[in-house]
Amino acid sequence: MANISSTALARSAELYDRVKRVIPPPEWAIFAEDVDAILELKRSRNAVVLAHNYQTPEIFHGVADIVGDSLLLAREATKVDADIIVLAGVHFMAETAKLLNPEKTVLIPDLAAGCSLADSITAQDVRLMRQRYPGVPVVTYVNTSTAVKAEADICCTSGNARKVVESLGAERVIMLPDEYLAQNIAAQTDVKIIAWKGHCEVHELFTASDVRQLRENHPDVTILAHPECPPEVVAEADFSGSTAAMSDFVGQKRPPRVVLLTECSMSDNVAVLHPDVEFIRPCNLCPHMKRITLKNIRHALETGRHEVTIDPAIAVSARRAVERMLAI
Ligand code: 13P
Ligand code: SF4
Repeated sequence: MANISSTALARSAELYDRVKRVIPPPEWAIFAEDVDAILELKRSRNAVVLAHNYQTPEIFHGVADIVGDSLLLAREATKVDADIIVLAGVHFMAETAKLLNPEKTVLIPDLAAGCSLADSITAQDVRLMRQRYPGVPVVTYVNTSTAVKAEADICCTSGNARKVVESLGAERVIMLPDEYLAQNIAAQTDVKIIAWKGHCEVHELFTASDVRQLRENHPDVTILAHPECPPEVVAEADFSGSTAAMSDFVGQKRPPRVVLLTECSMSDNVAVLHPDVEFIRPCNLCPHMKRITLKNIRHALETGRHEVTIDPAIAVSARRAVERMLAI
């Protein structure tokens, strides 16, 4: 405890009051100094922190200026009035922010914060799909590299996938790379979906038998599943939607007990907002999201590392696919 600044603790007391339900006092004592330093660095560098819903509560509630799902982060990135954006999330989210803000500095605190979906497909794979299905439009999930987005007609997120697919007015659509998201959207639309074999390493672990077990153990529980979960899990859940849609559902319906079949920090972050709701686990950790910490956010602001850059040869086409999505 010798290095912990009592000034930082005192300054962050109000903030701590918000998160005390999910962060024990000894942990906050460790976080307070970095929180304090980050708040000051943001002011002095004219920087903002955009944080995804899967970031840990000390980041999400402690230092973020804008929080949300992938769709909201992409939308808000277009409105940011700061010189520097620190993206507390994974690499594809930082690339999307950079695509939409070519003139701003976009930093990702750990370059290795990847995504199993983004890693499941290359630009060459998309070109081969186009050859195999000539004339069929390509929708890529935002959880892809810029090179893959550059091959797409339009992007989507879990929050707007059905709308995007139906906006194309086509009988068939290629939807890449998440097989389960594609199958879950196919169940809601008449458009025929051609999928890829990518999976989210976090959501693919949930099973229908997990859902049944939860209902047996907690008969009054409301079960929410992210659409990256396998279709049989989504079919047995009470609701499925993006991380923001799950959070909104809890806020509006206030179920007494809830399970979020998604990444672990999501429950902590939503629990802070709704102390009257009991959150039951299981959940699964995303190792990529967890690479982002207060320490490396602070380091990013202090040193300007790691700056996200985009190959100009692919930026224009990739930006078009993202902007087309945002226009819907
Ligand atoms: P959302 O767009 O629902 O926030 O999902 C992003 C993600 O990576 C889920 O695993
Ligand atoms: Fe990618 Fe899954 Fe992690 Fe989301 S939770 S960033 S889809 S690996």
